[in-house]
Amino acid sequence: MKRLFLALVGVAVMMACSTASQLSDEEQKAYDFADELIKKMTLREKIGQLQQFTTRTAAITGPDGVKRDTEECIRNGEVGSFLSIRKTEEMLRLQKIAVEESRLGIPLIFGYDIIHGCRITFPENLAMSCSWDIDAIEHSARVAAIETAATGIHWTFSPMCDISADPRWGRVSEGAGEDPYLGAAISAATVRGYQGNDLAADNTIAACVKHFAAYGAGQAGRDYHTVDMSELMFRDRFLPPYRSAVEAGAVTAMSSFNDFMGVPASGNKWLLHTLLREELGFTGFVVSDYNAVHEMVKHGTAADGKEAACQAMNAHLNMDMVYGDYIKYGEELVKEGKVSEKSINQLCREVLAVKYRLGLFEDPFKYGRQNQEEVMYRAENLQFAREVAAKSMVLLSNNGVLPLKEGVKIALVGPLADAPRDQLGAWIGWGEAGRSVTIRKGLEERFGAKNIIYAKGSDFRAPIKGGIEEALRAARKADVVLLAIGLSYKESGEATSLTEITVPEAQQALLDALKKMGKRVVVLLGTGRAMDLRNEIEKADAVLLTWHGGTMEGAAVADLVSGDKNPSGHLTMSFPYCVGQVPVHYNNKITGRPRKGPEHDKKYLSRYMYTPNEPLFAFGYGLSYTEFDYSDLQVLTPEVALDGVVKVSVKVKNVGKRDGEDVAQLYVRDLVAETTRPMRELKGFERIALKAGEERVLEFEIPTSELAYCHQDLSFHTDKGEFLVGVGADSNVELTGKFTIK
Ligand code: NOJ
Repeated sequence: MKRLFLALVGVAVMMACSTASQLSDEEQKAYDFADELIKKMTLREKIGQLQQFTTRTAAITGPDGVKRDTEECIRNGEVGSFLSIRKTEEMLRLQKIAVEESRLGIPLIFGYDIIHGCRITFPENLAMSCSWDIDAIEHSARVAAIETAATGIHWTFSPMCDISADPRWGRVSEGAGEDPYLGAAISAATVRGYQGNDLAADNTIAACVKHFAAYGAGQAGRDYHTVDMSELMFRDRFLPPYRSAVEAGAVTAMSSFNDFMGVPASGNKWLLHTLLREELGFTGFVVSDYNAVHEMVKHGTAADGKEAACQAMNAHLNMDMVYGDYIKYGEELVKEGKVSEKSINQLCREVLAVKYRLGLFEDPFKYGRQNQEEVMYRAENLQFAREVAAKSMVLLSNNGVLPLKEGVKIALVGPLADAPRDQLGAWIGWGEAGRSVTIRKGLEERFGAKNIIYAKGSDFRAPIKGGIEEALRAARKADVVLLAIGLSYKESGEATSLTEITVPEAQQALLDALKKMGKRVVVLLGTGRAMDLRNEIEKADAVLLTWHGGTMEGAAVADLVSGDKNPSGHLTMSFPYCVGQVPVHYNNKITGRPRKGPEHDKKYLSRYMYTPNEPLFAFGYGLSYTEFDYSDLQVLTPEVALDGVVKVSVKVKNVGKRDGEDVAQLYVRDLVAETTRPMRELKGFERIALKAGEERVLEFEIPTSELAYCHQDLSFHTDKGEFLVGVGADSNVELTGKFTIK
C-alpha cells in the first residue's frame, strides 16, 4: 500500500515535469488538440487509448496474447492501437469501425516490426552497420517507410538502440554493434529515415526508440535476462544511441523486458520518466514490450496484473502492449485513488498527440491507400539494396583466391547457397522469400548458369544423406568452391540465444571434406551475429562475411566475388576468439594490471591462461582487394580550449592496384580521468573512395563535448587533460598523436 501511495505522489510531480519540457510548435498544437479531445472522453475511453492489442490473424511476435472481440472493443473505445496486422484491407476495415462506429471516432494507430525493410528486405541491422555508411542507413529506413506507409502501417518498432557485445544474444542482429558513438549516429539516421521532415506526410512513419533500456546487456547473453550494471557504465556505453534517437525526434519509445537496477523497465519510473522525459527531453509516448506490463508479476515486483498496471501507469508508461491489464484494471485503479485521473489524461494526451502528428485525425485512411504495385520493389530501391548489401559484407581473410578469375567454374555448396528465406534474416516485415535473389541466382547471372555447379551438401544442423558426396562431386568439376555456410534465419533475432557460436558441426564437416580433396574453398559466412570462426579461418582460402544480406544478397555476393566491386565493410562487433572471452569489445577498460600483448605472458596480469585477450577480429576490421596506407597523422590543435574543437589530419593512400573504399576510423584515449576510461574510443569516421594510387588528406573535427564522460557524481562532462589520438582502418590502430584540453 505504501508503495502505491508513493507512486501516486510521484505522478503529481511527473505531470508537472512533463508539461514543463520544451515543446515545438508542432508538438504544442498536437497537445492542444489532444487536451480538447480529452475533455470529451470518458475515463474508459481514455484508458482505451492506452491499450494495444493484436488480432487472431496477425503475425505472432510473442507468447499468446489475450484473445478478445476485436470489433467490439474498437466500438467501445477500449483499444487505441493494434500490432502486427499483415493485411491492408484488415487495417482499413478496423480503422473504419474506429472512425465511424466508436463514440468519438478516434483513429487507431497500427504498429509493426519493420526492422530492416518492409517488402524489400535490407541486410540485417548489424550487417548494415558494417557499411559505416550513415546516409545509406538513413535511406534504407526512408525506403522502408515509403513501402510501409503504403501497407497501412503507421508506426514501426525500430530503431533498436541496444548496444551489445555479446554474440550469444541473438538480437545483436537488430542493433548496430558494440560501439556507442557509431550506434548513436545510426539510431539518429534511422529515425530521420522513417520520420522524414513531416510526420504527417503519407510516406513517413513513426519511429520507436527501443528497448529502453540496456536490453543488450542481459546476463550471459540470454534473452529477457537480468540486467545489472552501474549507472556510470550505463551512461557511458549504453545510453548514447537511445539519446540520439530521442534527439532526432522519435515520437515513440518501447520499454524493455529486462529489469534495470532491480526494477523491471515497464514499471521503472526512473527510466521512463526521470531519465527519458526529464533528462533526455522525450515528448512522445512509450509502449511496453509484448506483455511486459503483466510480466512484472513474473518478475516478482507486482502481486498481480492490477498492481502491474498501477506501477506501469505511475512510471509513465503510456501503452500496454497486448496483455490487457490497462483496460482491465485502469478504471478501478483510478476509482481506488491508486492512479490519478490527471495521470491518465497525461498518458492519453501523449498517445493522441502522436496520432494527431501523424495526420490520422485529418485523414485516418491516408496510409494504405497508395498504389502498392507502384511503391513496392521499385527498381532503384532494389539496386540500392544490392549496393548496401555489398557495402555491409566484410572480407575477413583472403590468400588471393578472391576475386575470382573470369571464366572460372564454381562449385556452390552449402545450406545458405540457395536459401531465399534464410538470407532475409529475422524480422522480415512484409518481406517475401519469393523475391530473394539467392547466392545461386546471383552467381548464375554473373558467371553464367553453366559455370555454377550447385550442391546443398548439408542442412544447418544435420547432415543430409549423401550430401557430402554430392558436394565432392560438384567440387571435382569445378576450379573453386564457394561454401555458403552459417546460421539459419531461425537462429537470429529474438529468443535465439546460443551458448555455442561456432558454425554447426554438420557444416564444418562439409568444409573439412572439401578442403581434404585439395580444392580452394571460399567460405561465404551467413549469420546475424559475431561468431567464433577459428576453424573457418584456418581452413578456408578466404572468408567473406555475407551476413543475412536481404532480398538482394545473391547479387551483392556476385558483385564482390567477381571483383566488380571491392569489399569495404568493417566490423562493428568484435568476432571473439572463443566464446569464453564473451563479452569482448574493443573499448574495454585498462585495469590496474593490463596485459600489453602476448609477449607479456606473465602471471598477475589481466589475461587468460591459454587464450589471447584479443578477439579473432577486432572492431573496425575489414579487408579489401586493395590496400590502404595511413600516414602523417597530424594533430592540428595540440592545445584546445575546454569548449573547443580538436582537429586532426591524416594521409590515406590506396597503395594497391584496384580502386576501393575504406572506412577511416579515429580513436582517442583519455590518459588520466576521474573515472576509469576505455583503452580507446571511436570518436570519428569517414567512408572514403580512392582510385588505385590515389592519395587524400582527411581532416577530422571532434568537438570536445564528444570527449565527455561520466564522473563519480554521475555528471557527464569533458575535463581538461591529455589525450592520445590515432586514425586507421581498425580499432588496433596506434594512437601516436597527442592533444591537451586546457
Ligand atoms: C517483442 C520484441 O522484443 C520487440 O522488439 C517487438 O517490437 C515486439 N515484440 C512487437 O513485436
